Amino acid sequence: MIKNNLNIHIFNNSEQIAKAAAAIVTEQVLSNPNLVLGLATGATPLEMYSELINLYKKGVLSFSNIKTFNLDEYIGLSKKHPQSYYQYMVNNLFSHVDISLDNAYLPNGLAKDLEQECKNYENMISAAGGIDLQILGIGRNGHIGFNEPSNIFQTRTHIVELSEDTLKANAYLFDNNKDMPHTAITMGIGTIARAKRILLIAKGVSKAEAIAKMINGNIDPYNQASILQIHPNVTVLLDRDAASQI
Ligand code: PGA
Repeated sequence: MIKNNLNIHIFNNSEQIAKAAAAIVTEQVLSNPNLVLGLATGATPLEMYSELINLYKKGVLSFSNIKTFNLDEYIGLSKKHPQSYYQYMVNNLFSHVDISLDNAYLPNGLAKDLEQECKNYENMISAAGGIDLQILGIGRNGHIGFNEPSNIFQTRTHIVELSEDTLKANAYLFDNNKDMPHTAITMGIGTIARAKRILLIAKGVSKAEAIAKMINGNIDPYNQASILQIHPNVTVLLDRDAASQI
């Protein structure tokens, strides 16, 4: 189904979503072995990463020549911190496939000059030729990356104060809530929107309202994902719960 320019597919279960998402990534890697792939963290893409690892082990695809750029990273966590997004990527994808870690980029949340780090990250994405395929989840508040509801759409990689809703949603990952960073570096909406193709995945009833607003709502920075309505190549993969209000 196409609604407001978004190409929407609804699946019965998350296994089907993972297979469909991994098939899109695989097709892109096979057609361009030097693909620049934008990656997401969180619970949503985990099964897709497992499926990609399976496909890699079967010899279907190789990550040896691709570059990856993650959407975001917490400020203040080292690469080795178990809750850093760097560690998430190592644990859930990078250590299982033939990607070179030299080609796998995340913002450095420990950079001395964080503003400069944001500029460097944006420049590295441009130097790589921009993102070919960007994977996205969505927050319950409609955030993509860590672009929280706001009065503007940020165009570039920037520092962000995490919203109460995001802090609550991700608190389960930290043994002690006090350890959870309240700030992060995230690609901007412009960084994301410049990707040639976007693949957004959402599962579960907790995402239903955000998905309905993304698809049917006005384009509004208080609903950051709504910007995707003006992107020419967005595929949205949903389960029935996430699609229940569209
Ligand atoms: P989740 O997070 O996949 O853990 O639900 C998605 C997001 O906050 O963008």
